[in-house]
Amino acid sequence: MGSYSEFHRRSIEQREAFWREEASRVHWHKPFSQVLDYSRPPFARWYVGGETNLCYNAIDRHLAERAAQKALIWISTEVGEEKSYTFAELHAEVQRVAAMMQALGVGRGDRVIIYMPMIAEACFAILACARIGAVHSVVFGGFAASSLAARIDDARPRLMITADGGSRMGKSVLYKALVDESIRLAKSPPEKVLIFRRGLDPKLQMVAGRDVDWAELAPKHAGARVPCVWLESNQPSYILYTSGTTGQPKGVQRDVGGYAVALASSMERIYCGRPGETMFTTSDIGWVVGHSYIVYGPLIAGMTTIMYEGVPIRPDAGVWWKIVQDHKVSVMFSAPTAIRVLKKQDPAYLQKYDLGSLRYLFLAGEPLDEPTHVWISEALHKPVIDHYWQTETGWPILSAVPGVERTKLKFGSPSFPVYGYDLRLLRESDAADAEDNEKAVVAIVPPLPPGVMTTVWGDDERFVKTYFTTFAKKMVYATFDWGIRDAEGYYFILGRTDDVINVAGHRLGTREIEEAVNMHPNIAECAVVGVADPLKGQMPLAFAVAKNATGLEAPENRKRLEKEVMETVDRQLGAIARPRAVHLVTLLPKTRSGKTLRRAIQALAEGRDPGDLTTIEDPGALEQLKNALAAA
Ligand code: PRX
Repeated sequence: MGSYSEFHRRSIEQREAFWREEASRVHWHKPFSQVLDYSRPPFARWYVGGETNLCYNAIDRHLAERAAQKALIWISTEVGEEKSYTFAELHAEVQRVAAMMQALGVGRGDRVIIYMPMIAEACFAILACARIGAVHSVVFGGFAASSLAARIDDARPRLMITADGGSRMGKSVLYKALVDESIRLAKSPPEKVLIFRRGLDPKLQMVAGRDVDWAELAPKHAGARVPCVWLESNQPSYILYTSGTTGQPKGVQRDVGGYAVALASSMERIYCGRPGETMFTTSDIGWVVGHSYIVYGPLIAGMTTIMYEGVPIRPDAGVWWKIVQDHKVSVMFSAPTAIRVLKKQDPAYLQKYDLGSLRYLFLAGEPLDEPTHVWISEALHKPVIDHYWQTETGWPILSAVPGVERTKLKFGSPSFPVYGYDLRLLRESDAADAEDNEKAVVAIVPPLPPGVMTTVWGDDERFVKTYFTTFAKKMVYATFDWGIRDAEGYYFILGRTDDVINVAGHRLGTREIEEAVNMHPNIAECAVVGVADPLKGQMPLAFAVAKNATGLEAPENRKRLEKEVMETVDRQLGAIARPRAVHLVTLLPKTRSGKTLRRAIQALAEGRDPGDLTTIEDPGALEQLKNALAAA
């Protein structure tokens, strides 16, 4: 592998010198005095004493050279609109929103929850928070009111920003109504809610004294000048909630300086995006990919970023490729599920447009199956790079790094450990390094590189306990993914070691879904597992025991209860978490000590051998499961 392997080695062996050089990619208002403070493992503090600002690096720094270059292109195939903003215009819009937020009492360190669809104003709001040192927490629009309420109570925001609604497949999705409901459920609701009205909710009700209309406040702050607040590198920039093994989502906290450096570096070395070019990332601002590679990354790199509201197949399956052609996209980033959706459409759409500008397509978020990887590579005639990372890391862990060396791509593999990551495959039993071709836990030896989460919001102990205590013998960061490395050093990800599932690239905890199912008044207990799905990668499947089974012999009563359970999940978590099916049983397979045998359930549901079941308390439970699956 020649130069990349040397490059990687240097990033680990001469960690501080390496990251000192990379730090010159961002603007420092005040230089840092120390590259890395690792005096309190596993907490790593990067660029100690340095002062910078993410918004300054994303916008202000480019004004001298790129004021008239497009910074943001917003395209909505849902409402049939397109709008673009130059760096100078984005600068003005962001300052205006920053002034609006200040007028609503938001200052440095205050949290702001952004619950918005894919509209330009969401991007303004994110950057405005960064500008004034407020900590944003963007919540994905697909999450339901109780999920939002849990995030409100954890982040305790001073302000929430929302819109009347979004649109998906031509149907309005109401946001403001859901925010109202979440505030009713929350114990520590914000005093103010700022609402951007797009005209999607004619029945929208404003709450006097709390709700503020964006359109009324904005004109008062036109032309506002709001200077960037300089933050010490290790101050929090944002919180992004993600699912884990428990029902309670974790607030992934990110810093300022380390994140800016990691993004600036990855934009050039991994994505090969050049200033003045255009990047198109098809994710959502509510996910980590949207934070890093719709908003911050491309802008920090001086690129134009595309924000797309819509699906890949409307008005037809050529829409993304038309965008690539029309806006001369050079770097594109999407998810395997989207490609599997496109694979089912007429391949002629891929020939219809001039994709000459496109250098690479990057895919992440879930396993990329080999047939899909082969199909899209051949259809595009471009390198398609599978890369692997997590909300926690903020930027790739495993990837080809073509900006350093154009290594051969292998189908099914996200290539090699990214520089900065001291990645290991460790045996679950004794934390020893695994051999080639031996399945083991993907782990990272700390200190974690810049850009990776610095702690769990408000809970240092949970950070250490969750991520660094998998192995008694070694304090390493566990990714909770299984992996394997072949003799040529290529890695393959083999799925999660914990109860997290991945539905169309959306990360969900089965425990969260179980808690949602249990909210139904007639459900006593349940087990939710992820089962393989040809399109979405995985889908949740629920097995539930009713409290009162009277009448449930009748198929129509069972159907009704199953439907109600699904609706309960929609209400608690959102439709993304809805189980593919709910099977009613009278017994769940458990061990004698009362632990639900989830892996056995999952194996049966996927038609695999459930393995050793000698610990099961009542084999009758398995029969019920098999019958329920056979009847489905
Ligand atoms: O299981 C891995 C899977 O998605 C998880 C992280 O999801 P999330 O926090 O939503 O972050 C997505 C950031 C791109 C991982 O623990 N995953 C992510 N990328 C891949 C993947 N699994 C296989 N191959 C990938 N390329």
